[in-house]
Amino acid sequence: MKRYRDIAGDGGSNIAGQVEAQQGRLRQRLETVRAVVAVVSGKGGVGKSALTANLACCFALDGWKVGVLDADLNGPTQAKVLGVRGRRLVLADGGVEPPRTELGVKVMSMDLLLPDDAAPLTWDAPVQDEAHTWRGAMEANAVREFLADTNWGALDALLLDLPPGIDRLATVASLVPTLAGIVVVTIPSEVSHLVVRKSITVAAHTKAPVLGLVENMAGLFHGPDASRLAADAGIPFLGSVPFDPALAVAADRGEAFMATTPWCESARALRRIADGIRAALSSRGATGLSPRGA
Ligand SMILES: Nc1ncnc2c1ncn2[C@@H]1O[C@H](COP(=O)(O)OP(=O)(O)OP(=O)(O)O)[C@@H](O)[C@H]1O
Ligand SMILES: [Mg+2]
Repeated sequence: MKRYRDIAGDGGSNIAGQVEAQQGRLRQRLETVRAVVAVVSGKGGVGKSALTANLACCFALDGWKVGVLDADLNGPTQAKVLGVRGRRLVLADGGVEPPRTELGVKVMSMDLLLPDDAAPLTWDAPVQDEAHTWRGAMEANAVREFLADTNWGALDALLLDLPPGIDRLATVASLVPTLAGIVVVTIPSEVSHLVVRKSITVAAHTKAPVLGLVENMAGLFHGPDASRLAADAGIPFLGSVPFDPALAVAADRGEAFMATTPWCESARALRRIADGIRAALSSRGATGLSPRGA
């Protein structure tokens, strides 16, 4: 097996040149996107994807043009949650046309590329045993391609739904130097807070502002206080979303919870959080976005 030190330069493949070209396309593509916002946790299963999808719907209901990139390549769920599973991807104008939800949210996900339900994502490598060695680099490449080669068009906000793992944010932040903000998600448990605290540290090391912490599934456990976690970390607390089985059912059905039951407690909590994020983005002035109703 060849080792890194055996490879002279890039072995003649001009990988560095290809990455640079792709990064240039990415920069160009994101020029028409006012705010790229990453939804992260570090901890798995806390509701990052549900929050991302519902925030996207809130913004779309406000009249924003919104996109969602499912940056979870190995466990993609956004196509299902946003109700666009099985849609065909069409090539147009030098990019891939993302499917749109009924509310007009543009969605790109690895799920739209995988051939069937049971097929996991595998990476090509000369020897399968080596694939895990390259996984980080290949995942970063795939996210870069999704960002650069999707016809996002003009968007007010592009939300990135990150996979679990505290290292993932650093990768995305390096791919998108213009990241407008980071939203961190936890659930009320000490185990979650333990991991999320580390994620906040990673977030603070990026150049992007941390817009705040969201507590999801409130009431499910009697856990530690999320507003205290936010205060201790010196970041805003955006609010709590109660545990609500109806929210999970809507996600399973691919229905826009924020449009079908906007009056219920969890939807109202999500609405307040969306408004907080809008206000935080506009107060930072990076995007020219105005808070709702302004
Ligand atoms: N507030 C809530 N009340 C009830 N169910 C919820 C709530 N938030 C999320 N869920 C449900 O919990 C499950 C896990 O949520 P989700 O997939 O969004 O988590 P995640 O953090 O994205 O997970 P992963 O780390 O695997 O990406 C889903 O079935 C989702 O619909
Ligand atoms: Mg997820």
